[in-house]
Amino acid sequence: MVTATTVPWFTLNNGVKIPAIGHGAYAPAIEEAQSRVKDWILTALKAGYRHIDTAQGYGTERAVGEAIKASGIPREEIFITTKLQWNHQHIVAQTFEESLKALDVEYIDLFLIHWPQAVFYDKGNSFPKNPDGSLKVTDEVNFNQAWAELEKIYATGKVKAIGVSNFSIKTLEQLFTTAKIVPAVNQVELHPYLAQEDLREYSAKKGIILTAYTPSGYDTVRNDPLILSLATKYNATPTQVILAWHIARGVVVVPKSEREERQKENITLPELDAEDISKISALDRGKRLCNYPDEKGQVYGWTVEQLGW
Ligand SMILES: NC(=O)c1ccc[n+]([C@@H]2O[C@H](COP(=O)([O-])OP(=O)(O)OC[C@H]3O[C@@H](n4cnc5c(N)ncnc54)[C@H](OP(=O)(O)O)[C@@H]3O)[C@@H](O)[C@H]2O)c1
Repeated sequence: MVTATTVPWFTLNNGVKIPAIGHGAYAPAIEEAQSRVKDWILTALKAGYRHIDTAQGYGTERAVGEAIKASGIPREEIFITTKLQWNHQHIVAQTFEESLKALDVEYIDLFLIHWPQAVFYDKGNSFPKNPDGSLKVTDEVNFNQAWAELEKIYATGKVKAIGVSNFSIKTLEQLFTTAKIVPAVNQVELHPYLAQEDLREYSAKKGIILTAYTPSGYDTVRNDPLILSLATKYNATPTQVILAWHIARGVVVVPKSEREERQKENITLPELDAEDISKISALDRGKRLCNYPDEKGQVYGWTVEQLGW
C-alpha cells in the first residue's frame, strides 16, 4: 500500500532520487485553463505530491513556481521536472535559463528533451506549419546536438539529472552514437493498453527509468472490465489499480487531476498480487491514446518509423 507519506523514491542512474508518483502540470494554452493551474498544483502539493512534471511547452512553469512558493514547502523537498521545447533545440542553454527564471528556482531536478524531432523556430509559435498543414520540422539541428548542450548544463550543477521524452529504442540508439551521458529518464506514453514492455526491458538494461505519461489511459482503460473487477477486488478505484501496476513495474507516474479528491486518490495505491500485475500487462494492445498518428501517418511532423514507435 502506498500513501502520500510512503511514496517510493526510485534511484536514477546518477544516484539522484525521484518520487515515483509525480503530478502532471499540462494545461491547454487558453487563458482560462492556465489561470487555474497555480491553484490545483497547490492542492496537489498539500495532498503530498513532491514531484511536479511541467514543460516549457505547457506554459505552466511560472504557475508551478508560484504554487511551490505558496505551499511553504522547502524547494529542496520538491522534485521539479521540466522539458526543452521542440522548437528550441538550437538554443538550449538560453532556454534552460528561461525555465529557471519562470520557475524562480536556482536549479531544476530533471530536464528532458521533450520530443526527438526538432521543430522550425518561429518566435512565439510552437506549431509552425508547412503549406500542407503538417508540423514544420527541421533538420538544421538534431537531438544529438541538443543532448550535448544538456550535458554541458548538467556539468554546471544547475540540473540534477537529464533525460529524454517520447524516445524509442530506435531514437535512443541514435542518441547513443554521440551521447556521453546515458539519459536518467525517458518519459513516454505508457498505460495498460500500451505497456511498452520491450522499451521497459531495454531501458532497464541501459539504466534508464521510464516515466509514464497518460498513466491512467483515460476512461478507455479505466473502464476495461479487468480493471473494473480488480478495483472491486482491491476495494480501490480503477485509476488506483492502474497506477499501482506502474509502480510495481518500477515506472514513475505523473497523473494529473485538477480535483483535490482525485489528487488524493491518485497518491493512495493498493499493492497488487503478482498474478494481477501480469493480467494487467496482458491488456497491452499497442494502443496510443494521447499522441497517435494523424491522417498522414505522422505524429507532430515525424512518421511513426522516424520515431521508432
Ligand atoms: N512528455 C510528453 O510528451 C507528455 C504528453 C502528455 C502528458 N504529459 C505529462 O503527463 C501528465 C498526465 O498526462 P495526461 O493528462 O495525458 O494523463 P492522465 O493523468 O492519465 O489523465 C488525466 C485525465 O484523467 C482525469 N483523472 C485524473 N485522475 C482521475 C481519477 N482518479 N479518476 C477519474 N479521472 C481522473 C483528469 O481529469 P480531472 O483533471 O478533471 O480530474 C484528466 O482528464 C501531464 O499533465 C503532463 O505533465 C507528458
